[in-house]
Amino acid sequence: MEQVQNDSRFDLIILGASGFTGKYVLREALKFLNAPSSPLKSIAIAGRSPQKLSQALQWASRPNSPPTVPILTADTSDAPSLRALCARTGLLLNCVGPFRLHGEPVVAACAHAGCDYLDISGEPEFMERAEAAHHERAAESGALVVSACGFDSVPAELGMTFNSRQWVGPTVPNSVEAYLALESEKRIVGNFATYESAVLGVANAHKLQQLRKSRPRRPRPVIPGPSPSKGETIENQKKIGLWAVRLPSADSTVVRRTLAILTENPHGLPGLNESADRVAKREAFWSSVKPAHFGVKIGSKSLLGILRISMVGIFIGLLGGIGFGRWLLLKFPSIFSLGWFRKKGPTEDEVESASFKMWFVGRGFSDESIASKGNTKPDMEIITRVMGPEIGYLTTPIILIQCALVLLSQRNNLPKGGVYPPGIIFGPTDLQERLQQNGISFDIISKSNISS
Ligand SMILES: NC(=O)c1ccc[n+]([C@@H]2O[C@H](COP(=O)([O-])OP(=O)(O)OC[C@H]3O[C@@H](n4cnc5c(N)ncnc54)[C@H](OP(=O)(O)O)[C@@H]3O)[C@@H](O)[C@H]2O)c1
Repeated sequence: MEQVQNDSRFDLIILGASGFTGKYVLREALKFLNAPSSPLKSIAIAGRSPQKLSQALQWASRPNSPPTVPILTADTSDAPSLRALCARTGLLLNCVGPFRLHGEPVVAACAHAGCDYLDISGEPEFMERAEAAHHERAAESGALVVSACGFDSVPAELGMTFNSRQWVGPTVPNSVEAYLALESEKRIVGNFATYESAVLGVANAHKLQQLRKSRPRRPRPVIPGPSPSKGETIENQKKIGLWAVRLPSADSTVVRRTLAILTENPHGLPGLNESADRVAKREAFWSSVKPAHFGVKIGSKSLLGILRISMVGIFIGLLGGIGFGRWLLLKFPSIFSLGWFRKKGPTEDEVESASFKMWFVGRGFSDESIASKGNTKPDMEIITRVMGPEIGYLTTPIILIQCALVLLSQRNNLPKGGVYPPGIIFGPTDLQERLQQNGISFDIISKSNISS
């Protein structure tokens, strides 16, 4: 085990690399360490237990022997240890969750030190609280803080942008509904911490409402046409062959934050030191993005599948709000999630055999002038799809590491600092191409005229 006491600096530090997701993130990072043309020349890993971190490094390096990756001790409840990490790197990747319990001190340390920060949170309250508390400090110090750089919420952010950019003049989108389908030849299983984050999110839903009420209202984008109707609770989406119900994930709130920032900054956010060519590219990119109402549903090929998903939602929704109910949910995750979450997480085989498809059904108008004629219904539909491997432990590490590589190689093109959602930061970069090169595809499925 290599424990360093000196003051060498690293291109990035992974905090929480001993966690279930952290070790997969480390494995993904090692693929790019000192690879030809990779900006990643040095990594350190950090956390509470040097022994667990060393085991994670062994696991992540298999079948090779571990490369030189120093192990640093840090605890999110020990502010000096977090400051010490920030002194050793320009970029911290945070994999310690639930973020509502552990994330804020890490963001605070980075915002004060001017250290860039990316995480894999899917918790809206944590993200919005971090923005409220640390945006100004981060903007001054030059710390770029971006949460939700995992499956939550990059496929939704880039997938929404991808669909919206298919609407070329005079067509305009009105709504984009994302339908998530999880697939596997074995079982679909997630680790306990993600389930815990969801249960705690439900328990504290009122705090998020209070936070939002206390914040200044953000401008809303102008979207052509009427607001889409809520539709049926259980939808049969025949075109993509799915039954679907609304998914209260972070995605729609994250996409809405990106659209609000875009409304305030129609050309996107200026980079630290962009070339004239780069400025023109960024502005052209954002001028091709058209805002739309956005929502996310989870889908299943069978009605029975969607009833099972709904039942888990009902358990968490009803029991998550009361102390004893929460205790039951957290004590018996397999029972109350009907086997979808386990204390020990999925096996490697279960991870390898899973995949996702996220369909984006965009509805809008074949001509913007139709939309301005009052209560007209959309007459055009564009369906796109984002597809990739298992969401939590394969797709999430791929996205986080590609975001990190964009940051390391193109820092001058990104804003000096501040707390932001991923879409507004990475939208105009080459992140989508990078994800495509690493197994996450973006496809146009169909463009058609519709009657209702
Ligand atoms: N965006 C997405 O789609 C996505 C995907 C996967 C996971 N996640 C999120 O990622 C988070 C982690 O999930 P997981 O399944 O990997 O959890 P996990 O296995 O429980 O790992 C948690 C990690 O945090 C560390 N940790 C806990 N308390 C700490 C503290 N006080 N100081 C420093 N380190 C501490 C643990 O260290 P020890 O080894 O010392 O216990 C461990 O390394 C969750 O919030 C989950 O929701 C998001």
